[in-house]
Amino acid sequence: MYETWEELEKSIENCNKCKLCKMRQNIVFGVGNKNAEVMFIGEGPGADEDRLGEPFVGKAGKLMDMAFDVVGIKREEVYIANIVKCRPPNNRNPEEDECEACLDYLRNQVLLVKPKIIVLLGSVALKHILGKEYGITSSRGKVIEKKGITYIPTWHPAALLRDENKKIDFIRDLKILQSKDF
Ligand code: URA
Repeated sequence: MYETWEELEKSIENCNKCKLCKMRQNIVFGVGNKNAEVMFIGEGPGADEDRLGEPFVGKAGKLMDMAFDVVGIKREEVYIANIVKCRPPNNRNPEEDECEACLDYLRNQVLLVKPKIIVLLGSVALKHILGKEYGITSSRGKVIEKKGITYIPTWHPAALLRDENKKIDFIRDLKILQSKDF
């Protein structure tokens, strides 16, 4: 584990730990306040993120930004990262070996940010951070305390594009951040 952002960022620059490196345009490392109280963890970059090198800047990201506005979260105040830092082809889910290869970067990001709360966006983030036994449908909207960090699993923003009801859930889940006195 690296103790500074500079070292960590340098260590990922030419990463070829998994096959996703072959197809990437950009490594999507993470963005936001490096001292944030709240961290959001998604799954992996899509086409827009791969092109621009920043998480959640495509359609799903725009929807997430709208939900942030509704709830009063400022994107620049939180830290946003993904389970895998390179785009899986055709927007498929990242495979197990790809997640395993990449997870140490995320663990290091969490160590450096030291968030009080981590919002887990979707099943891939939930299962890789809290464990395979967790399911997103039953876990979303719950507050889960583990090793000094509060986890709030919710739907992945891309799921909101397909299901109007999930938007309501998503906003409700984000409001937990406001209701707790962190
Ligand atoms: N979906 C994700 O999980 N992460 C992104 O950065 C964009 C879309």
